[in-house]
Amino acid sequence: MDGAVPERKANMGDPIPRVDARLKVTGAARYPSDVPVADPAYAFLVTSAIARGRIRSLDLGAAKAVPGVLDILTHENAGEIRPLKTFSSGGQAGSSIVPLDSARIWHDGQILAMVVAETYEAAREAGHRIAIAYDAEKPSATFGSAGVETKPVAKVSKAHKDPTFGDAPQAFAASAVKVEADYSTPAQHHNPMELFTTTCLWTDGRLTVHEPSQFVYGMKAGVATQLGIDPADVHVVSPFVGGAFGSKGSLTARTAIVALAARRLRRPVKLVATRDQGFTIATYRAETRHSVKLGAGRDGRIAAYLHEAWELSSRPDDYNVSGTTSTAVMYDYGSIATRVNVVNADRNTPGFMRSPPEVPYMYALESAMDELAAALKMDPVALRRVNDTMKDPATGRPYTSRSLMQCYDAAAQAFGWSKRSPEPGSMRDGDWLIGWGCATATYPTQIGPAAARIALASDGTVRVQIAAHDVGTGAYTVIGQAAANRLGVAPDRVTVELGDSALPPAPVAGGSNTTASATSVVLKACDAVRARLFRSAITSNGGPFAGKPFEALDIRDGHLVAGDVSQRLDDAFRQLGESAIEEYAESFPPSLGPDAVSNLYKGRMSMVGGPKGEKLMFAFGAEFVEVRINARTREVRVPRAVGAFAAGHIMNPRTAHSQLMGGMIWGLSSALHEATEIDERTARYVNDNLADYLLPVNADVQSIDVILVPEEDSEVNPMGVKGLGELGNVGTNAAVANAVYHATGRRIRDLPIRIEKLL
Ligand code: MOS
Repeated sequence: MDGAVPERKANMGDPIPRVDARLKVTGAARYPSDVPVADPAYAFLVTSAIARGRIRSLDLGAAKAVPGVLDILTHENAGEIRPLKTFSSGGQAGSSIVPLDSARIWHDGQILAMVVAETYEAAREAGHRIAIAYDAEKPSATFGSAGVETKPVAKVSKAHKDPTFGDAPQAFAASAVKVEADYSTPAQHHNPMELFTTTCLWTDGRLTVHEPSQFVYGMKAGVATQLGIDPADVHVVSPFVGGAFGSKGSLTARTAIVALAARRLRRPVKLVATRDQGFTIATYRAETRHSVKLGAGRDGRIAAYLHEAWELSSRPDDYNVSGTTSTAVMYDYGSIATRVNVVNADRNTPGFMRSPPEVPYMYALESAMDELAAALKMDPVALRRVNDTMKDPATGRPYTSRSLMQCYDAAAQAFGWSKRSPEPGSMRDGDWLIGWGCATATYPTQIGPAAARIALASDGTVRVQIAAHDVGTGAYTVIGQAAANRLGVAPDRVTVELGDSALPPAPVAGGSNTTASATSVVLKACDAVRARLFRSAITSNGGPFAGKPFEALDIRDGHLVAGDVSQRLDDAFRQLGESAIEEYAESFPPSLGPDAVSNLYKGRMSMVGGPKGEKLMFAFGAEFVEVRINARTREVRVPRAVGAFAAGHIMNPRTAHSQLMGGMIWGLSSALHEATEIDERTARYVNDNLADYLLPVNADVQSIDVILVPEEDSEVNPMGVKGLGELGNVGTNAAVANAVYHATGRRIRDLPIRIEKLL
C-alpha cells in the first residue's frame, strides 16, 4: 500500500483520480442530510424496547409539553401507509413490516413513534418523554431459540432451486478422503458514514425526498405506492450516498413516515436517525450456519459436494441469499447435493450486504476446501487446480471466461507461497506463530437495463445524465471516462449527473452491476451523438468533411477528424450551425427484452448474469493472507494480504484497486472483528454503536497488495466489464481462517476469529 498509481495493463483504462475526490475531502460534497431546506422541522424516532408483543398504551402528555414540539406520529394517528412488496418479491421494500400501522411489535428497535419539533433537541427530549406500556411476549432471538420456524427456501421461493446433481450422498460415502464440518457467520451491520437520513418537502402536492439511496427510481415508485400518490409527483435526490453496501438499496419505513409528517405540518421535515437506530430501522447481514461435506479421491478430485445452510430472517419475511447457486459452480464436482433453509425469528428483516450470498457461502466452501487439502496432504493451490473447471459441472454450461488459476498463480508468486512449510505450527518467528492461508474470491457478473442522455456542446464539453448511483465506488469517474473515451474528449471536459430520479433511470447500485449497465447505455447514447454529428458534417455543403464516407469520421482529442482532415469541435459546431447535440438511449440485456426499461421507469428491477442464463458469468480472484498469532496471548495480526483479481475490462485501475483493497480490508474486518451481538433473552442487539461494534483501524491493516490480472471477455456485456465492487471481500474470511489453522493447527469454524476462540 505505497500509494503508487496502479499500473495500466492490457485491457485496462486510464488510472485517473476520482473526479469527486476534491469535493469529498474538502467537505464540499453535499450528502442528503446536508442539503439546506427552508424552515425545516426536525424529527426524532422512538423505537421499541421489546422484540415481540404489542403496544398497550402510549402516553404522549409529557412529550407534548416539551416546548417546540409540533407533532407526534403514532400508530393511532399517522394515517395510512400502504403495503409495499419487498425487493425480493419484485417490490421496493426491505421488509414487509410497516411500523405505525398497528400496535404490533415484530422486533427490537421497531419504529413506534416519530416526534417532530422546532429543534432536534426538543424532538429528542420529547421522544424520551413518551411513556410506552407494552404487552410483551417472549421473543425468539436466533438459531436454536425456542419458537423459531425453519423452512426450506425452495418451498417458499419460486426463484430458488437448490443445486443438485448426481448421487452425492452415495459418492461421499464411497470417497477415499472425506471432510465434514459445520461453519457459522454472525450478523453484521453496514454502518455507512451517512446515517439513515431523510428530508421530505412538499411543493404544490409534489414530494421531494433527499435521502441517500442506491436506487432512486425504486424509492420514487415505492414511496408513491406507500402514500397512494402518482410516482410522477415524487422526486428523489441523492447525488452522494455516503456509503451503502446494500443498506440503501431497498426502502425503509422511515421515508413514508417523514413524508406524512411533512404533509401534515406543511413544512419540510428532516430526520437523521441515530447510529443505534440504524441497526434496527434498516437491514443487515443475517446470521448463517452451514454443514458442508466434501468427498474426494486421493488425487484430490472432488467426487461429492454436499452443503446444507440455514439463514436467519424476520418473523414475516423469508429473506435469504441462497449462495449455493454460486458455490455449486465453483469446482468440477462429481456430484452435488444442497439445501438452503430460512429460519424465522423475532428480528428485523435482514437484507443485502456487500456480496450477500458469496461472503457466507464461500467462507464455508473455501474453509472446507482447505480442510480437504489438509486431509489429502495436498497443497491448497494444487487442490484448486485439480478441481478447476470452465463449465458448470451439473449442466455443462460454459463460463464466458474464468481466470481463477491465473489469479492463484499471480498472487502465489507475489506472496512467496512456494516458501510455505505445509505442516501447521511449523513456521514461527520468536513468540509469533506464522500462518499462511489462501482462498478463492468470486462474484457474479450482472447487468440490468438502463437509459441515459448525453449532450455534446459546441465548446467540446459533454454532459452525461443517468440516475445511476455513486455509493462511494467511483461511478462518477468511470461513467465519465466511458463518455470521454467514446466522444474523444479529455475526461475533465465531461460532467456526470447521477443519483436523481429526474434523470433517465439506471438499476439499483447493487449486485456490482453499475459499471456494466451504466457504461453500456452511455456508450450507446454517445454513438448516437457521434452519428448525428458525423451525418451533419458529411452532408454540410462546403465543410471540410462534405462528401466523406461516414465511417471515415471520428472524434479525437476534441477534434472532428477524417484521415488527415481535422477541425476543432467548436469550429465544426459553428460551421454546422449546431449549439449542442443531445441524444437519449436505452439499453437492456437481450434476454430481458425492452419491457425491462419501461419496468425500470416504474422502479421495478431486473438483472441477469452470474449463474443464471446460458453461460456462467463470474469475476474471480485469489487471496493470500499471512497471520501472526502470539504464542502466549493468542493475539492475531495480519501483516500482509495479497489478492489477485480478474474482472474483464478494467475501466480505471485506480478505482478498481481501491474497491478491491477496500473489499479485502472489509474481509479482514469480517474475519477478525465484526459481529453484531444479540442478547438471546431479549432479542436485542447489545453492541449497536461504533465503539462496541468492532472494526479494524489503520494499525490493524498493514500491507494489502492488489494485483489486477488482465482478462478479456467480449460476452458479458458491451463493455466487457465484470463488476468488482463486491469481489474483494469474498475470499478473505476463509483465507484468514485457513492461515489461522496453518499457524496453530486450530480450525476456527465460527466467525469472527477472536482471541478467546484461540486460547
Ligand atoms: Mo450490494 S449488497 O449488491 O448493494
